[in-house]
Amino acid sequence: AVLGTAGFVVLDRPSASGLLRSARLPKPFAVPLPVAAAARPVRTSGDTDYYELTQRAADVEIIPGTRTQIWGYDGMFPGPLFRFRSGRQAVVRIRNGLEVPTSTHLHGGVTPPDSDGYPTDLVRPNATKDYTYPLRQRAATLWYHDHRMDYSAPQVWRGLMGMAIVADDEDDNLPLPKDDHDIPLIICDRAFADDGSFIYPALRPGPGVEAPFGNGVLGDVILVNGAPWPVLEVDASKYRFRILNASNARQYRLKLDPGGDLVQVGSDVGLLAAPVRHTEIPVSPAERFDVVVDFAAYPVGTEVTLVNTLESGDTGRVMRFKVVRPGRSAATVPDRLSAVDKLGGPVATRTFDFRAGSGDGMRMWTVNGEMFDPDKTMARPGLGTVERWRFASDFHHPVHLHLAHFQVVARDNQRPMASDAGWKDTVEVRPYEVVEVLARFDGYRGRYMLHCHNLEHEDMGMMVNFDVG
Ligand code: C2O
Ligand code: CU
Repeated sequence: AVLGTAGFVVLDRPSASGLLRSARLPKPFAVPLPVAAAARPVRTSGDTDYYELTQRAADVEIIPGTRTQIWGYDGMFPGPLFRFRSGRQAVVRIRNGLEVPTSTHLHGGVTPPDSDGYPTDLVRPNATKDYTYPLRQRAATLWYHDHRMDYSAPQVWRGLMGMAIVADDEDDNLPLPKDDHDIPLIICDRAFADDGSFIYPALRPGPGVEAPFGNGVLGDVILVNGAPWPVLEVDASKYRFRILNASNARQYRLKLDPGGDLVQVGSDVGLLAAPVRHTEIPVSPAERFDVVVDFAAYPVGTEVTLVNTLESGDTGRVMRFKVVRPGRSAATVPDRLSAVDKLGGPVATRTFDFRAGSGDGMRMWTVNGEMFDPDKTMARPGLGTVERWRFASDFHHPVHLHLAHFQVVARDNQRPMASDAGWKDTVEVRPYEVVEVLARFDGYRGRYMLHCHNLEHEDMGMMVNFDVG
């Protein structure tokens, strides 16, 4: 690692030969979609499951025929898939086998402050920390990732992230697709050098590509579950896909080609009240969409491509499904999924303005004109209260709250988008837009954070504390 001119660590200097030549990239839709095995507890006692993980470097084959050094939980990229159970506490012991400090955040978790992965609550090299997740929360698709202050972006880029699915009886008892028809799709972009190593920051400035960091770091290879433009063979029946945008900065607008419904059953933090039918879904960094796709709508033999309509060419493609045999599952999507009570009665209204700023002659990112200061707090919501938070912005900023889940109530005083439905922990605020949410500050007292989940913006200051008291 070297210190870049902007004062940020550049983990991999682009080699003289630069980006991996496209001739060495795999043909799209040739690599099978991998699905990480579930992490197994090392022991279980009463209502607690204990896990142990080591963060370490590993050489893995991402681009066929090349090796990429990653930093992964248990040397995996993405990390092991956690299958947690609502009401059962999980204690995850993380040993840091890397040469840099880390901090792990369970994104979407209702977690006491000392296990929340605060950016300065560091696990030093060779140290361990027990993260306690009480999981007194409903079924949801969560994820975990590094949150080290100023370095989350390069450390997540290197591989420090994974998915954590929380199950409960309500979700289990629905007739939704299950088991091998319930599949995580962790989507992220990366860039590779000719020798296979990750490049960070990735793309050189040029036509259509801003200077590194300005708007976040983008890669030119789209990975799903760590595989480039993979393919999944499916039968002609319904599948549940847990879509996570784990990219540092890339936005997607997902659509099936040749057409078809993405039936949303869950949002960031759990089931919707009723399914929402989309033909396209905008997915900004850190958002999750739990969707059902019915491949019975296509004749056997059809190839269905998941595309990103915001882009064309290679980055406009994500993965492909091949309908290879008739279906045999009886799964259905019921009209009622869960009870989602509308939040009301906010006791305070606060506005947070997400904007570019400058400091020390460089471009920085600010909230209400300030860059992150771990010693300052910008709000003190009362435990158990509901507040109206307004997010204003000058660019695309996926805004995320730790601890508190929220409901989107308005965009520019108009109705929110169809994709804003349900309980959320991250919301995309588009340029010059004001998004209003009602957030419930439930769970624990203590210091939590509000930040932009464009990881380069986060590292460059776009983060503030709030203290739940
Ligand atoms: Cu997924 Cu504080 O972030
Ligand atoms: Cu941002």
